[in-house]
Amino acid sequence: TKPVSIAELRDMRARGEKIACLTCYDASFALIEDRAGVDLVLIGDSLGMVLHGGRTTTPVTVDDIVYHSRCVAPHLSRAFLVADLPFLSYATLERALDASQRVMQEGGAKMVKLEGGREQASIVEYLSVRGVPVCAHLGLQPQFVHKMGAFRIQGRDEAAAEAMLHDARVLAEAGADLLLLECIPTELGARIAAESPVPVIGIGAGHRVDGQILVLHDILHVSPMVTLGRTPRFVKNYMTCAAEQGTPDIESAVRAYVREVKSGAYPAPEHRFDVPAPAAIRNDK
Ligand code: KIV
Ligand code: NA
Repeated sequence: TKPVSIAELRDMRARGEKIACLTCYDASFALIEDRAGVDLVLIGDSLGMVLHGGRTTTPVTVDDIVYHSRCVAPHLSRAFLVADLPFLSYATLERALDASQRVMQEGGAKMVKLEGGREQASIVEYLSVRGVPVCAHLGLQPQFVHKMGAFRIQGRDEAAAEAMLHDARVLAEAGADLLLLECIPTELGARIAAESPVPVIGIGAGHRVDGQILVLHDILHVSPMVTLGRTPRFVKNYMTCAAEQGTPDIESAVRAYVREVKSGAYPAPEHRFDVPAPAAIRNDK
C-alpha cells in the first residue's frame, strides 16, 4: 500500500471520499490504526489529558510530542502522520521553526498542527515556505483554555462565523495545507469546507466537511472525560458498535469508526451541532 500524502488527501477530497483521522500515541495502537485504514494519525496534545491525566493540554511540551511521535511513526506504513505543536511552542517564528524541526526530524511527523486564526498567518507562511506542511486548527482551541475560562461551541453568532470564514481563507492563502474545525455549527463547517481550497477535517463540526477526527481514547470509551461523565456531544463509543457487530475488540472498533466516517454514518445528528446558523453564513449547496 502506498503511504498517504498531502496530494492523496487532496485527491480524496476531490473524489468525495471522506478522510478518516484519529489520534494515536503509541506503537500498539499505531499498528492497529494503520491496519484498520485510518488515513491520518495525529499525535494530539490531547495526550496531556488522556495519557497524563491533566485537566488541560497546556502542560504538554515539544519533548512529549516528539516522544510519542517516535513511538508511533515507525509503525505506520500507510497513514499520514501529523503532530500537534504544543502550547507556546509556536509563540514566535523561531520557536515555531525549532518545534517543527524537532517533531519532523526527531519525531517523524509529516505535518504540524497549530491552533489559531489569521493571527497565525505569518507563522503558517514562515513554516510553509520552508517545507513544513501546516494544519491550522480553528473553532474551539483547547490551548486557549486559560484565556477563555470555559469551552463551548464556537462561531454561533454572525460576527464570529464571518470571522472564522475569513480566518480559514487567510490561513489557506498563507500556505496551510489542511484545516481542522472543532466544535462549530454544522452550517458553518459546511460553508468553510465549500470555500476552502484545502481539505477540511472536523471534530464536532458536522458532516458536511471533508473528513472527521476523534480522540482514540474517546472512541474506545476509556478517556477520563468519558469515565467522569463529561463526554462531548460529538463522541461515539465504537467499542459498543464493535460488540454489537459480534467483534468486541479494539481493531474492530477502529474499523467501525473508519467505515462510518467513509459512509457518512458518523457524525449522525446526535453528534452534531445542527443549530440555526446566521443567514449570512448559510450554505445550502
Ligand atoms: O489534541 C488533539 O487530540 C486534537 C484533536 C482532537 C483535533 O487536537
Ligand atoms: Na490538539
